[in-house]
Amino acid sequence: MYSQRNLSKLTIDDFARLFGTTADDIDEYCKGLVDTMDFSFEQLSDIERDKLILNILKRIDLADLPVSGEERKPEWEKGWADNLRDFINSGYDLSKLVPKYFKKNIPVRLNREYVMPVDPDFVLNCTRVFRNWIFRKYLKDVDSIYEFGCGPATHLAFLAGIYPGKKLYGLDWAKPSQEIIRLLAKHFGWQIEGRHFDFFAPDVNLHLDENSAVYTFGALEQIGGNHKAFLQFLLKESFKLCINVECISEFYNQDYLPDYLAFKYHKRRNYLDGYLTRLQELEAEGKIIILAMHHQQFGNIYDDSHSYVVWKLRKIPATS
Ligand SMILES: C[S@@+](CC[C@H](N)C(=O)[O-])C[C@H]1O[C@@H](n2cnc3c(N)ncnc32)[C@H](O)[C@@H]1O
Repeated sequence: MYSQRNLSKLTIDDFARLFGTTADDIDEYCKGLVDTMDFSFEQLSDIERDKLILNILKRIDLADLPVSGEERKPEWEKGWADNLRDFINSGYDLSKLVPKYFKKNIPVRLNREYVMPVDPDFVLNCTRVFRNWIFRKYLKDVDSIYEFGCGPATHLAFLAGIYPGKKLYGLDWAKPSQEIIRLLAKHFGWQIEGRHFDFFAPDVNLHLDENSAVYTFGALEQIGGNHKAFLQFLLKESFKLCINVECISEFYNQDYLPDYLAFKYHKRRNYLDGYLTRLQELEAEGKIIILAMHHQQFGNIYDDSHSYVVWKLRKIPATS
């Protein structure tokens, strides 16, 4: 089917632009990974694009569209319990931990366009390339790494593979997440520990290891404008670096239709609100230093989910 149509393919330069960097900042491992996957895609026809946009608008208007917040906790518990069950039943197959919200065979957002990938796992594979790049770039020099809102711990499992000497921590409010991590430690012998954590009410007894880094990956998305408690918690700690890979609504330029739709959708779902603005205020107050931030123009149909901001506390002497 696709051989008849006009296919394009993401190159290393395209990935570099998506990540907000240059090709020489993408290491050989990452480049090799890109070569093992099919990143080809085709443009949508005008009719297909219209239909897609109509469906997005209808979804934004859905009266019962789920919104993020406290009430969604049971859904996360159930989602990760399903992954946990599949993981156990498969004899600890790590692929069974991939969240089921990675949908296959649907259009994706790419550089302010909607395109149709050839490989059903295009979004997942782009995510794999991106995490390789960002985690290898920023996490190599720390001893401990904390993922807040880690869910089924797929990113931590990846980190255990590339950084076997580092201590890994996965925190989430959903209990099955901790059980998955317990099994990962037991079955694979990794230095990984799970712990209950609620962004809305951070654990006052939790203190981060020295020479550690913190990250979130599509988790703050779920807390709307309720990021004050988490930031207060972090500001009291002494980590080296924080990476937030999130849909960051401040980046959308609403003069572009795909950005406008994403912004509307983002607001409608009550996704992360005002977080980057708050970090910029904290920087202006001399409390943190923002090292990098970037609107990654890529994601599922509805929003650009892989934008990022990397920052550190000003009280820690600069190391990078
Ligand atoms: C979209 S998933 C991302 C999971 C994981 N970071 C990943 O990329 O596979 C969002 C995660 O945030 C967690 N979460 C949502 N609200 C939370 C809260 N208030 N406290 C802690 N975790 C929360 C959910 O349980 C879920 O694991």
